Amino acid sequence: MKNSLDRLWWKEGIVYQIYPRSFQDTTGNGIGDLQGIIKRLDYIKSLGVTIIWLNPIYTSPNDDNGYDISDYRSIMSEFGTMDDFDQLLEGIKKRGLKLVMDLVVNHSSDEHQWFVESRKSRDNPFRDYYHWWPAEKGTPPKRWSYFDVEGNAWKYDEATDAYYLHYFSEKQPDLKWENPKLREEVYNAMRFWFDKGVDGFRMDVIPFISKDISYPVLPDEYEGNFVPFYANGPKLHEYLKEMNNEVLSKYDVMTVGEAPGITIENALDFVDEDRNELNMFFHFDLMSLDRDGDEVFMMRKGKWKLTEFKKIHTDWDTVFAEKGWGSMYLNNHDFPRSVSRWGDDSKTHWYNSATMLQTFLLTMRGTPYFYYGEEIGMTNIKFQNIGDYKDINTLNRYETLKNEGGNLEAFIENEKDASRDNARTPMQWDTTKNAGFSDEKPWIKVNANYAEGINVTSQENDRGSVLNYFRKMVQIRKDNLGLIYGSYELLVPDNEKVYAYTRTLEKEHYLILLSFSREREILKLEQFENQNAKLIISNDDAVSHVKDGVFKVRPYHAMVYSID
Ligand code: GLC
Repeated sequence: MKNSLDRLWWKEGIVYQIYPRSFQDTTGNGIGDLQGIIKRLDYIKSLGVTIIWLNPIYTSPNDDNGYDISDYRSIMSEFGTMDDFDQLLEGIKKRGLKLVMDLVVNHSSDEHQWFVESRKSRDNPFRDYYHWWPAEKGTPPKRWSYFDVEGNAWKYDEATDAYYLHYFSEKQPDLKWENPKLREEVYNAMRFWFDKGVDGFRMDVIPFISKDISYPVLPDEYEGNFVPFYANGPKLHEYLKEMNNEVLSKYDVMTVGEAPGITIENALDFVDEDRNELNMFFHFDLMSLDRDGDEVFMMRKGKWKLTEFKKIHTDWDTVFAEKGWGSMYLNNHDFPRSVSRWGDDSKTHWYNSATMLQTFLLTMRGTPYFYYGEEIGMTNIKFQNIGDYKDINTLNRYETLKNEGGNLEAFIENEKDASRDNARTPMQWDTTKNAGFSDEKPWIKVNANYAEGINVTSQENDRGSVLNYFRKMVQIRKDNLGLIYGSYELLVPDNEKVYAYTRTLEKEHYLILLSFSREREILKLEQFENQNAKLIISNDDAVSHVKDGVFKVRPYHAMVYSID
């Protein structure tokens, strides 16, 4: 029987996520492209990361920046061609790296040929690739949509006098997994990429694919809390097992599901090795921590507490102690920059915060996922004007609020912390125009702090930079299996300033101390009183280990000790 201690490449891997639109433009259209990624492969390799995950690069009208795919087997023209892709893949393999792609199959674009056909007539062979509700049955039971100005997931389509379902924008109609023909199409698209040599998929909102196609009226609790009703549909596990059996099991690949609605209680149903479904998923417990209840995009007043942060990670670690495997992330293309959100991006604390958070991801059990720019401590841009925002989510919610006569100023204040665009600004390569991202006007503004040291070139030349700390810390994880597979134990759970834990694997024993506070703290850990603690890495020069189990912890300090 396999279990979480079995060594596997994707457990030992370190993922680097790239939002291709914002990484490197080589054509001068202000949009990143595949040649841009190729140009930067040596840099990526130099980080020590081992797996690249690309946000969608398929043909798309870009209503939601590629999460609306109109052809699953071709490359978005703005990003390049299939030849560019083949060249990219070759460059990745040559450097001993792996490539994970995004699989967006809860929905397609409305410009996908399947939908173009489907909406033509009720007896079209593609009709059943999507969810339709004939208008003669009356208005369909309410379904909430993420990216719809009216919040309505049913869109009336005149051609066939029927409504189609779209959990996201009206240009993202939901695919009907209940139709075996559709499932086969998806599996074939997956085989297409695996046969090219792709090493895995990140699966977009995968818990949403199975639906109750009687489309019942949902209970009152649904209002304002739709995720549990969208996730975990009746046939979800049947489909995942089928996908695994027909496709995944035939290749040496990894899968990570984006998993709203997956909880500690049902987690192992997805990733218990014996069930043959997925390898990992991204839960949303941390991402919801500073959000206002069901209003996933609104910041919570009073933000969050470190004790809650610790509890989330400790509880999840317990889930995967014997079976399954976790994934660790602090930001991605849907959430603000980690240093601005979980640390402190002010001049005083930025360096320690960024490196402390890197230390956290690299010393926890579970595969760490870094988002481009996290290695140099990129921060939120905090746009003040609605005209600077590009994200459909921010723009639509602004529109909704405007229609309702809501408080637009408060909304912008919220978006400065919460908007997805905070994480989508161009990669900061150097101090030249547009941070070296593009010669022309970038599709979204560059964060001005590229001129103040937050760029790759400046940090390359500085031994004490966030970038060089990242490289060191990555190497430490790779050199010490105990940091990957070792068991995790939380210390001082009630401390609101310091997150302290140990990792242990046979004779390897580590103590990790991470400050999430602007204040200093003196920590007494009696269990280490008579032990020899050797400092492996710290992001602060100050002497920290006094003696007899007493540790001086400075603001946003990170320390990793090896204990005899
Ligand atoms: C996922 C993606 C997000 C996208 C949405 C719809 O949450 O990460 O970027 O907008 O799905 O595909």
